[in-house]
Amino acid sequence: MPQEVMRVYMDHGATTAVDPEVKKEMMKYFSEEYGNASQMYELGRNAAIAIQESRERVAKLIGASAPREIIFNSGGTEADNTALKGVMLNKRNKKKHMITSVIEHPAILRTAEFLETQGIKVTYLPVDEYGLVDPEVLKKEITKETALVSIMHANNEIGTIEPVKDLAEITHDAGGLFHTDAVQTVGKIPLDVQKLNIDLLSLSSHKIYGPKGVGALYKKQGIRLEPIMHGGGHEKGYRSGTENVSGIVGLGMATKKALEKLPEEKKRLTKMRNRLIDKLLKVEDSKLNGHRTKRLPHNANLVFKYVEGEALILRLDAIGIYGSTGSACSTTKLEASHVLLAIGLRHEIAHGSLRLTLGRWNTDKEVDYVIKKIPEIISELREMSAFRKDTEEFVMSLKDDH
Ligand SMILES: Cc1ncc(COP(=O)(O)O)c(C=O)c1O
Repeated sequence: MPQEVMRVYMDHGATTAVDPEVKKEMMKYFSEEYGNASQMYELGRNAAIAIQESRERVAKLIGASAPREIIFNSGGTEADNTALKGVMLNKRNKKKHMITSVIEHPAILRTAEFLETQGIKVTYLPVDEYGLVDPEVLKKEITKETALVSIMHANNEIGTIEPVKDLAEITHDAGGLFHTDAVQTVGKIPLDVQKLNIDLLSLSSHKIYGPKGVGALYKKQGIRLEPIMHGGGHEKGYRSGTENVSGIVGLGMATKKALEKLPEEKKRLTKMRNRLIDKLLKVEDSKLNGHRTKRLPHNANLVFKYVEGEALILRLDAIGIYGSTGSACSTTKLEASHVLLAIGLRHEIAHGSLRLTLGRWNTDKEVDYVIKKIPEIISELREMSAFRKDTEEFVMSLKDDH
């Protein structure tokens, strides 16, 4: 008898399915209300009205003081690029120093590296064993020359929520601007840019049950940015290019639903996440990555010693469980996650990580399935593993020889 295989998607940190209501709302803007929002006739006006409504919805979700503080774009990566390059390469900005952290998403890290090639000095703050940036360290590193501090609201891999309010205050005291990459937190935990005193914030639609390829940058009124896209002057000159109306409508609807569902979902997912973590920590030689409580409600990230992450993902895939690992294997090298290395995991241990990120449609039954299957698969893999406990010393000695 073939075994029943469930299909359990637990990779909502990577992306989410589009909510059916979001999809329904979007459809109209493909072939009925397809006007260009810059045109004065009715079809154009309708598109402009739909964009404005979405702007209001996004502004409401993050507590912006006015809808015009929202600049629509293609997603989190573009928002991060616009914030960093927009501040640091603005001709009016005479300060040539920025600060970020070592655990940021590549959209920040690679942009910061690019800025270094343009004469900007970048300081990368370390994190502690839980992935937390220490505000005291920021205090030591920030100077009057610091134009921008960019620290993520929560980490996409280990789910640690950073003390952004304190970090923003320190930044402002030193005369700098504070940006946060909130791609993983918007719609998941309460977030108010005014209360947190944030100047710039990145968000993305596809993490909150909206379509891919659309997102936004929150820019507090009065802040000047150098645009990275030049053209027809859309989005008040900050992001030229005919607006992706259906995408923006989708983001708006996704935002509205996220706000309505947030308190209840946060509670439900936290409970499921805790059950996942508690049960999986019963596996021998396992460890939680990230902070136990200062973490995203839907994120469980664990490391299983003597297991190779990619093998684990493939074995889980075969039984319908979709999660992710911190290691990325290419033909030439096996790279461990920069986040796991930054919190102090040894290279070979960082390779055995598993990230499960819960979402709107996950059920308790699915969690039961996952906590039953994972320990079985870990045992199987350990039986075969080159990193097995009794061979670890041997493998390590081989590594030392090369
Ligand atoms: C923290 C963080 N920043 C930025 C991004 C990039 O967002 P997008 O996929 O919308 O470009 C992601 C996506 O995984 C993310 O998790």
